[in-house]
Amino acid sequence: MKKYQQKNVSDINLEDYLGEYEEPQTTADDMFFDCGRRKESLNGAWHYAVDQYDTCIRQHWFEERYEDKNGFTLPVDYSFDEWPTMNLPCCWNTEKEMFLLYEGSMVFTRTFRYAAGETGAAGTKERVFLKVGAANYICRVFLNKKYIGMHRGGSTPAYFEVTEALQAENRILIQADSTRRPEQVPTENTDWFNYGGIYRDIELIRVPATYIKRFQIALVPDGTFSKIKARVQVSDVRNTQAAKIPGMSALASDASTAGPADAAAQHTDTDASDAGQESATVPASAELRIPELNIQAEIPLSDGFGELVIDASPELWSPEHPRLYDVSLTCGEDAVSDTVGFREIRVRGRDILLNGKPIYLRGISCHEESVAHGKAPTDEERLETIRLAKEMNCNFMRLAHYPHDERMAKLADREGLLLWEEIPVYWAIRFTREETYEDAENQLKELIYRDWNRASVIIWSVGNENADSDERLAFMKRLADCAHAVDETRMVSAACLVSMHKLAIADRLAEYLDIIGLNEYFGWYSPDFAQLPQLFANSDPSKPVIITEFGADAMPGHHGTIQDKGTEEYQAYVYERQAETLRGIDYVKGTTPWILYDFRCPRRTSAIQGYYNRKGLLSPDKKYKKPAFYVLQKYYQKLMNRF
Ligand code: GCU
Repeated sequence: MKKYQQKNVSDINLEDYLGEYEEPQTTADDMFFDCGRRKESLNGAWHYAVDQYDTCIRQHWFEERYEDKNGFTLPVDYSFDEWPTMNLPCCWNTEKEMFLLYEGSMVFTRTFRYAAGETGAAGTKERVFLKVGAANYICRVFLNKKYIGMHRGGSTPAYFEVTEALQAENRILIQADSTRRPEQVPTENTDWFNYGGIYRDIELIRVPATYIKRFQIALVPDGTFSKIKARVQVSDVRNTQAAKIPGMSALASDASTAGPADAAAQHTDTDASDAGQESATVPASAELRIPELNIQAEIPLSDGFGELVIDASPELWSPEHPRLYDVSLTCGEDAVSDTVGFREIRVRGRDILLNGKPIYLRGISCHEESVAHGKAPTDEERLETIRLAKEMNCNFMRLAHYPHDERMAKLADREGLLLWEEIPVYWAIRFTREETYEDAENQLKELIYRDWNRASVIIWSVGNENADSDERLAFMKRLADCAHAVDETRMVSAACLVSMHKLAIADRLAEYLDIIGLNEYFGWYSPDFAQLPQLFANSDPSKPVIITEFGADAMPGHHGTIQDKGTEEYQAYVYERQAETLRGIDYVKGTTPWILYDFRCPRRTSAIQGYYNRKGLLSPDKKYKKPAFYVLQKYYQKLMNRF
């Protein structure tokens, strides 16, 4: 008998203990449409342990081996149900002071009961998925001692099929790892706080054996505002006919995403013989209902895909008139629903057209953060953010620098606010690393699939402030092409840098964008304000420009003269000077100054910053408005009278 139980070799040897837990990775292709579905929440008290050395994975705690094959009791280093509890979803950083700066792995576990649902048609069984709304950055799921899979990406949802692993009594264990890494998206270096945890809803979702995987509905962007297009994909699709449906190309199980689908190609109904392996369980059609538009329409399905263009004249959605319609879709034994606004966003020359009319995007940037809850604001806190933006006469908001919670876009649909949504391809990404590209593209597709039906979202941004290089251009062009291929109804942009040596807008990526985003800090990082008008005189873009960042730090309540950086007076002065220049540039069609409220930032340690970025127009708790808030509010009021 050995003197001691052979410890798991990975504890004492430098072997690759994570290799077997890099796959299967759940991605955008595993997502399915879940609005209007019944969801069983697993939110609430989860037992947890800080796992700095990934001992859970190294020693396979999830296998719960308490005895060896000879009945010898094993000394284990965990006791799941004696661990303390934490209420999920949350960021651990705001839960306990000692966790504020913790980065690494934490292990969460709980038990729950599951009673199988009725069998479906022809005795088919329901399928059950675990949805993790977001976990930063990697999460690994174990259920009843089995490894289910992992998700990579800190701000997008993950769907894990757990049908075969479920029992009547279940133990689930999730490892969340917030470690920053150079090869991730974003890298280890950003200008915001790295909150960790499972910080958006955790739910079980049951679907029939064949279920609605995608449901996309929008106004046809042809300038007539008279047609609605609905697209449906049903699970269990067997071949790649989908590649012929614009926007579906990335849905087909084996679609390559190297380039855009042929947007001109329309879906051609293939007869059964062509489809060949049509799954017997895939229904022949789906039914769309929009009662207020008297629409009840059959959408024929071919090989699990279908789309239908219907004549309709909905009241158009806009920030001033956020008109929403209840829509429902049934297909076989499945049914989903959503609340959707119909609007059109297009670019014509240097104009941005909302529902055919030129619009100026009176915006503001914001991070997803509240003092009390970190990157997991409550609905009330999100609503407060939207209402403060509207109080400042905004019709637009840049959700920087990563996908915010899906509830933000649903609130913006309801409250009437246009949105720019973004993936965190931020600063110096590893542009030459293919796996890094796949991570970025996956986060982009997860964002687009998640928010496809949201009228408020008008722009997908593929990145922020990446230095212009050939490798970066190739990487970002691929992302822009992917966004155009998956969603032909929205604009694609990125927040580009000013070319300071040319003092012009000269980022090569602009060619592949519909709208050019531009970050410029004249009056702050670039001292000479006179260069700002010169920058615009030196530039001649063929498409609209949004100034996606300008601003200045100001410690709330810190006063001085307009020469004193860091004071409220200086910040207000920068906003005055920016406004007087920008109002005269005819190809600038929007601004999202940096930023609505001060936010936590480990890089900002000066006396006025105190580990906060102080460019906010409000204090971190959003209770105190700095004078620059009113400067912008007045500027936007004037613009409202102009457009
Ligand atoms: C950059 C960056 C922001 C950052 C800001 C600043 O432009 O995009 O994430 O917080 O400038 O320096 O305050």
